[in-house]
Amino acid sequence: MFMKVKNICCIGAGYVGGPTMTVIADKCPHIKVNVVDINQNRIDLWNSKDLNFLPIFEPGLDQIVKRCRGKNLFFSTEIEKHIALADMVFISVNTPTKKKGIGAGQASDLKWVEICARQVSKYAVGHTIVIEKSTLPVRTAEVIKTILESQDIQNKKQKTFDVLSNPEFLAEGTAVNDLISPDRVLIGGESDSAIKSLKDIYQNWVPENKILQTNIWSSELAKLTANAFLAQRISSINSIGALCESTGADVREVARAIGTDTRIGSKFLDSGPGFGGSCFKKDILNLVYLSNYFGLPEVANFWEGVVRFNKWHQHRISKLVVKKLFGTVSEKKVAILGFSFKANTNDTRESAAIQICRDLLAEGAELLIHDPKVIEKQIELDLGEQAINNHKNINESDSKVIKSGWEKCDKIDQCFKNVDAALILTEWKEYSEINWELASKSMRHPAWVFDARSIVNPEDVRNANLNLWRVGDGS
Ligand code: NAD
Ligand code: UGA
Repeated sequence: MFMKVKNICCIGAGYVGGPTMTVIADKCPHIKVNVVDINQNRIDLWNSKDLNFLPIFEPGLDQIVKRCRGKNLFFSTEIEKHIALADMVFISVNTPTKKKGIGAGQASDLKWVEICARQVSKYAVGHTIVIEKSTLPVRTAEVIKTILESQDIQNKKQKTFDVLSNPEFLAEGTAVNDLISPDRVLIGGESDSAIKSLKDIYQNWVPENKILQTNIWSSELAKLTANAFLAQRISSINSIGALCESTGADVREVARAIGTDTRIGSKFLDSGPGFGGSCFKKDILNLVYLSNYFGLPEVANFWEGVVRFNKWHQHRISKLVVKKLFGTVSEKKVAILGFSFKANTNDTRESAAIQICRDLLAEGAELLIHDPKVIEKQIELDLGEQAINNHKNINESDSKVIKSGWEKCDKIDQCFKNVDAALILTEWKEYSEINWELASKSMRHPAWVFDARSIVNPEDVRNANLNLWRVGDGS
């Protein structure tokens, strides 16, 4: 029977749960949306009065939160209560790669999803539609359904469930726009009435022809496949970039030339420092695990190559910096411009900057790191022990000489003092507006600009008496 949803509970107030539910609340004022999480700190930040303190930075998100929060959008840790009140529960928790046991290093760890399913099973009241929003391996819906339906006998008659797959395709940095104008919304499931209820929500702002329906397994696999194809495309262009550097070609020109072929298309062809983000690597490794599990090692090897290549490419960039700086960066200062895995997000998960900074620190370099949105504590966590021991804050000890390790610079110009090189790792707009003439005056010469994102104007850099390396530029 079709159910008009009035109350949603989303478990997981992260990069997906937070923005997704905020947009649903905004587009569906008739629905009460409760986003719940076990992380009290995260919930407190979502509830912070000063919108600058929201736990996730996404352009435009703060204004929508401001419009809806306290009206039909609520953030809390009262998980049980809101499951009980909900007609529809979204599971939007983390599904990282397993660290130990069977499938370690490849399979997704479904621990958190399983906990959610058990909680929903226990606290749901009446009929509940459960939505897989997290990215999950094929056939996870079966596991969720089994758990949901294994309640104690007494409750069994009073509770019923439908499970749908509704993977999220938003990209960080453009989440709000991706949610408001999605290329498609994918719904996989068997129950026509449950599908209708979910469709009814999206139809408040998404045209019907963009809402695709598949069986549940196709929906789960389509999500993994989309990420695998996107990541493969980046590894493809980065591989050609490396070849360009050795042959005198220019990867931007090659990308333009192939991108005009409508079958290939022009998007997602920017060579960079290697893909990062919480999902590409994790989802491909999951695909690798599944392929092996289903007895298809050739398929597994094919996809594993994409991840292997990406790692090689990140190391290639750090090696190249060392090579250009006369084979050693020991006790040399290098400015790192950008630490997030892409622009317009404060997320650093799997950021190429982490591997590249670690490589340079291992070579003895002293790093001056700038990022407009990533906080110092996060960098400290990402660079681990190796850096923490030597870590100082630039504001606390401006005048002291750094022996080793890294410092966070709050302003871009603080990064150039006595550095031998500036390495651009994230395509933040402000880095395309750097006054290189001025920067050059602070740097130790001969000095280099390494532009792993192709965002500087080459002439400006060269005119400032600086050497320039650009990714994929062999010209
Ligand atoms: P995240 O780590 O930012 O957020 C997950 C949240 O779930 C955390 O705040 C955690 O505390 C909470 N949580 C875990 N177990 C819980 C429980 N039992 N009860 C309540 N809260 C719990 O993760 P994310 O980036 O939002 O990703 C979530 C899922 O969405 C993943 O499967 C991911 O692959 C997928 N996805 C992510 C993106 C993205 O851009 N980040 C895009 C599409 C899909
Ligand atoms: C990606 C997908 O684009 C989303 O559709 C998907 O929902 C999401 O993963 C997910 O499942 O988590 P995201 O990782 O947020 O989104 O960001 P992307 O824009 O895809 O960028 C991923 C990485 O590739 C970044 O490090 C980015 O800098 C890099 N990239 C992207 C390039 O190096 N070149 C490009 O041309 C595009």
